[in-house]
Amino acid sequence: MQQLAVDNPFGHAPVFYKPETDSTMNDAKNLARQGYPSGTIIIAGHQTSGRGRFADRRWYSPPETSLAFTLLLRDETVEATDTGGTISLRAGLGVADAIRRHFELPCHIKWPNDVLVEERKLAGILCERRPGESYVGIGVNCNDKRIPSELRSHATSLRRATGRRVPPLDFFALLLPHLHGSLSAKDWRVRLEALLYQRDTTVLFRRPDGIDQEVVVKGVTEEGYLLVFPVDGEGPQTYASGEIVGSPKTGRRRRG
Ligand code: BTN
Repeated sequence: MQQLAVDNPFGHAPVFYKPETDSTMNDAKNLARQGYPSGTIIIAGHQTSGRGRFADRRWYSPPETSLAFTLLLRDETVEATDTGGTISLRAGLGVADAIRRHFELPCHIKWPNDVLVEERKLAGILCERRPGESYVGIGVNCNDKRIPSELRSHATSLRRATGRRVPPLDFFALLLPHLHGSLSAKDWRVRLEALLYQRDTTVLFRRPDGIDQEVVVKGVTEEGYLLVFPVDGEGPQTYASGEIVGSPKTGRRRRG
């Protein structure tokens, strides 16, 4: 593991790089246990067991094609202030801001943790908690040219979207100030709602109880919950978990 010479806006905490690891989520937990401060970051060149938000979804990141890192946030810091499930939303906003600002690509945030470009997933956020600390895992598809066929219809990369090679560490340097800005922003909700995928659209929403329901996506609450109006029921409703699985008009389903 080497320490990178990066001016880290998260309290000048160290930024580490490992060419290969199982998952940066595990590395970040080890660093926290060793007493490293809030804002410490561990980046991997390649993860052999990258984790997604769902147990059955691995995060696919071939060597040096994706940016994969985890940010440790201790609860006492402003960036870690959370009233529910807002950290992954605010982190997604930072990723979307960086992509919009530096690549001029239209970006959407699919609640709760996906950053989409042209309706395809370009980045995903995984937030894990331990008492007193949060681990914000961010994966960004930078250069994947050969996206596996099972992912091709719903995944993309900066290279596919722009035609340019984007070294993962270059994107990290662009992203870091945006991530710090979005995690510290008081106005994160209004900024996020402006980028919310399928806002004011009827979608098929898989509720936490596993039932699919047609709802109109309206926004997010201060707690980061999805705010919807059910098409056939009483509204509004809010959900702390669940997933937008498709569009009732086409019957098409997407994996997050
Ligand atoms: C998702 O889309 O379901 C979340 C994907 C999160 C992937 C990142 S890559 C860095 C960090 N380490 C992991 O094992 N997962 C997260």
